[in-house]
Amino acid sequence: MGDSILSYSSDDSDRKGIVTSKKTVEELSSDIISLRPTCFENYIGQKDTVETLKIAIQAAKMRNEPLEHILLHGPPGLGKTTVSHIIANEMGKNLTVTSGPTLEKGGDLIGILTNLGEGDILFIDEIHRIPKIVEEFLYPAMEDFAVDFIFDKGIHARSHRYRLKQFVLIGATTRVGLLSSPLRDRFGIFRTLDFYSPDQLIVIVKRSAAILNTIVTDDGAKELAERSRGTPRIANRLLKRVRDYSLVKSHGRVTLESVKAALSLEGIDHLGLTSLDRNYLKTILDFYKGGPVGIEAIAATLQEETDTLVDVVEPFLLKIGLVLRTSSGRKTSEKAFDHLKLYP
Ligand code: ADE
Repeated sequence: MGDSILSYSSDDSDRKGIVTSKKTVEELSSDIISLRPTCFENYIGQKDTVETLKIAIQAAKMRNEPLEHILLHGPPGLGKTTVSHIIANEMGKNLTVTSGPTLEKGGDLIGILTNLGEGDILFIDEIHRIPKIVEEFLYPAMEDFAVDFIFDKGIHARSHRYRLKQFVLIGATTRVGLLSSPLRDRFGIFRTLDFYSPDQLIVIVKRSAAILNTIVTDDGAKELAERSRGTPRIANRLLKRVRDYSLVKSHGRVTLESVKAALSLEGIDHLGLTSLDRNYLKTILDFYKGGPVGIEAIAATLQEETDTLVDVVEPFLLKIGLVLRTSSGRKTSEKAFDHLKLYP
């Protein structure tokens, strides 16, 4: 445990930026993922998912077999990547990280697959955005641990099967509905990550503050947790902003007052909504009389990408009941109306 290597030597796919990380977990721990836990012991929340994964890991170790392929679903920032790092760490295997949109051609994927060792883990983020032509190489790779090369065309066509090591694919997606059923069906484990409760986020904020050598008061941590949209990534990002603010404007301690002042400067309201969230609600209310209205119309009015609204903005607004999704489109609730009165 603790010696997993993230990805691999510099070959073609690496140079093109298809593989996004190639550092040891320890190296990453000291920079971008410093606030992420590296073992389940330090991981807070997602109790059932963690339990399922721990059992699968233990069983795989007892049988001396690789894990089954795992599909993780949920809004951004809830820990899909973190969980993959932890799995690699707990299995003591290498982790290669890539993402659906960067795999443009079959060769991009094959280059990665043929470099995986026995039991190694391949993490594909945004797997729903993998091109169809690349996806077709994944089927035999996942099922038979093989890739089929086709030479020539027509009557001269010949195929050659290249054996791969038994690897584990972890796919992450914000939109499981966009995955084709042949791909979805090849995952043995499927888990959806949920938004975190404020109490869980308080623990995460305090843990992160300790790692950052920052003092945070109980009411400061609570306020920060309540404004983090149920999302650890947001909680950690906001903690860093408030930490800067507190250092410059007061004595460096993260308190209720410094959280309120710093987040007001960031345009984050008491529910954790950003100006984009409020503009989204305002658009439905003002332009479309509270709905129902189609997502494309809202995106066009806001001049935003539909995907951003569906993946980033809507899940939390739906969760806290400010928006409703009906068969005829999106509608705002009474609560959204009241909220916008507070933040016109
Ligand atoms: N940092 C980010 N996500 C976390 C989690 N689930 N538990 C602990 N620390 C975290």
